[in-house]
Amino acid sequence: MTQHDLLISAAAEALCRGELVAFPTETVYGLGANAADEAAIARLYAAKGRPTNHPVIVHIARFEHLQHWVREIPPAARVLAAACWPGPLTLVLPRAPHVLHSITGGQDTVAVRCPSHPLAIALLEACAARGVWGLVAPSANRFGRISPTTAAHVTAEFGATLAQVLDGGPCAVGIESTIVDVSGATPRVLRPGMLSADRIANLLAMPLGAADAAAPRVSGGLAAHYAPRTPLRLLDAAGCGAHAAALIRLGHRVAVLASAGVLAGLGKDCETLPAADVPAAYAQTLYANLRTLDALGCAEILVEQPPPGPEWAGIHDRLKRAASGAGPSDAG
Ligand code: TXA
Ligand code: MG
Repeated sequence: MTQHDLLISAAAEALCRGELVAFPTETVYGLGANAADEAAIARLYAAKGRPTNHPVIVHIARFEHLQHWVREIPPAARVLAAACWPGPLTLVLPRAPHVLHSITGGQDTVAVRCPSHPLAIALLEACAARGVWGLVAPSANRFGRISPTTAAHVTAEFGATLAQVLDGGPCAVGIESTIVDVSGATPRVLRPGMLSADRIANLLAMPLGAADAAAPRVSGGLAAHYAPRTPLRLLDAAGCGAHAAALIRLGHRVAVLASAGVLAGLGKDCETLPAADVPAAYAQTLYANLRTLDALGCAEILVEQPPPGPEWAGIHDRLKRAASGAGPSDAG
């Protein structure tokens, strides 16, 4: 066995014993637990500090394993899975009768995704070979905090409380998967991501339904989510410059994530990070950038509003939530 195989099988064994293992996916790092083990799920919710009525996503190694979790596979699910799995897409489907209420928030649906990171796939296959057909894996952060995109972020948050943290390098996508509910008559996006709603509608060759705020619970759908501790303000280019200058005049330190043009106009007293000008690179670096700026302990983090457009929708969504004044208590 290679070193890699040994790490994977040790992680799979730990998961089968009911322990928690953090692992990389292409979106963000997940905190994994056996999706069919009630005690492991209780441990997971306790570790994250997540309210027990917030459902989690079941991660599977490949499409064929979907049958273990759902009572039917609607045609739209087949189309989307064929085009996008493995990849940053989560499908909400009618759950099979044996699926634990504790992972669905008591709903009649279950969220499932097939991640594309090779370490995630290897781990999920090793679990499947041991009769564990899926791992629930919420983002490996405490509830309401910024999601981790490196193994170091996970270790900083959970320290020694996990059986293992698999290190797969920085995540390629950088924000959480797009969630599409295909359990009803009209598919609809519940959480935007880098796989755009336009792309989903094109693949299905139909318009999508409107997201209904009253329907299934999406914890990423809470306003107070993905938040740094430092207050974060979203501003246009002119607002960034003006607000930074005003804070500095008052003697405050300020951190700014903005385009090169805006940064060039700021005084030397600002802490700055350049924002990428294409959505893929912006998303890939977003959470690490927010962590870096948060750690500076400034009075405020100012973020220049990225451009409009469907390919930026997932990014706008996460920034809006980060700006909503969230702290751990606000997030529940
Ligand atoms: O990219 C991702 O999806 C990452 C990586 C680790 O795979 N995972 C992730 O998990 O973001 P988490 O637990 O942080 O977010 C799961 C989301 C929540 O917003 C939850 O409410 C929603 O999925 N969800 C789960 N089951 C659902 C259901 N039956 N109906 C509606 N939403 C559901
Ligand atoms: Mg999360």
